[in-house]
Amino acid sequence: VSSRAGLVNRQVILARRPLGIPQAEHFDVTSSLVPALDPGQLLIRNHYLSVDPAMRGWVNEADNYRAPVPLGSVMPASAVGQVVESRSDHFGRGALVVGRFGWQEYAAVQAELVDRVVEPDDRLAPSLALGVLGANGLAAWFGVREVLRPSPGDTVVVSTAAGSVGSAAGQIAALMGCRTIGIAGGASKVDMCLEGFGFTAAVDYHSPSFAADLRAACPDGVDRYFDNTGGWITDQVMSLLNVHASVAICGTASLPVGDAAPMGPRWERRLLTRRARVEGVLVGDFREGFPDAVRQLTDLVRSGHIAYREDVSQGLDSAPSAIAGLFEGANTGKRVIRLVG
Ligand SMILES: NC(=O)c1ccc[n+]([C@@H]2O[C@H](COP(=O)([O-])OP(=O)(O)OC[C@H]3O[C@@H](n4cnc5c(N)ncnc54)[C@H](OP(=O)(O)O)[C@@H]3O)[C@@H](O)[C@H]2O)c1
Repeated sequence: VSSRAGLVNRQVILARRPLGIPQAEHFDVTSSLVPALDPGQLLIRNHYLSVDPAMRGWVNEADNYRAPVPLGSVMPASAVGQVVESRSDHFGRGALVVGRFGWQEYAAVQAELVDRVVEPDDRLAPSLALGVLGANGLAAWFGVREVLRPSPGDTVVVSTAAGSVGSAAGQIAALMGCRTIGIAGGASKVDMCLEGFGFTAAVDYHSPSFAADLRAACPDGVDRYFDNTGGWITDQVMSLLNVHASVAICGTASLPVGDAAPMGPRWERRLLTRRARVEGVLVGDFREGFPDAVRQLTDLVRSGHIAYREDVSQGLDSAPSAIAGLFEGANTGKRVIRLVG
């Protein structure tokens, strides 16, 4: 009998299949006993859970890069937690790790689900391993540096620019010597882009003058576009593409999931006449480069060259409604749920 016998685990379960944006009523919070570990497994006590726009796609029955989350299972999510018991040779008790541990207080998982160890650092919160030092910062890092490959002086436009991925993408492009133009929803997020994240200019897509404002912010056209929204916002950017422009599609926040995508202007003539390139980005494709990129991002965050924001809510019960808020722009920065600490 181990010291954790009888330990209760609270878990967020996908209980009903949403059509579109998942709401609180699609999840149940349940309790069960923590199971005994099999050889090779770890028991993790989760400290921070990630909330991601991509979760909308994971829970819907639609074509995606992964199969839909089965009903009745724990909501998959990245999390930062501490190893409280180990039957693996790879990670000892006490290690702080980030991995695919799900929306639950405890996770009994194979050691392979650990993505990396989080080194203790007085100045960097462990939750950053879910944001600027995790999948979001890495999507920005590889999306800008490996896919868009801008040259100094290029005009780089970023959508959801005040968000976790977008703010990192803009700052990485700025460090490469680019003019950066952020697109965000509302005056306070535009201010955040300018004051907090150093964009050269920022434009509010809620404003009726958005198309004209964007054109004015890009007097020499658009060389690179880091796209997190798709839809009408993207249509406006596409109309400004320069010769040999590149577009990286990292997210589609403004498109519905499923088949009923709204029609917009066709881009083909613009792509042809500008000899432009459009490429999808999935951060997991760059896994081999993660350790080096995390090191470089950590140095840039520590030295103040990359700023970030977090949007922290408290307790597992805040998880079920947390995805919907992302699609209302309710978050300012990387949305995480604090369980411990
Ligand atoms: N491809 C990859 O490997 C990868 C990895 C990580 C993340 N991503 C993608 O990157 C994007 C940003 O993720 P994040 O975690 O950094 O989230 P985030 O930007 O911090 O939060 C989402 C933001 O999206 C905006 N938004 C929501 N609905 C919208 C709509 N209908 N039209 C326009 N904007 C809308 C809102 O900002 P406003 O208030 O400004 O509207 C909201 O705050 C997401 O699309 C995500 O799926 C992709």
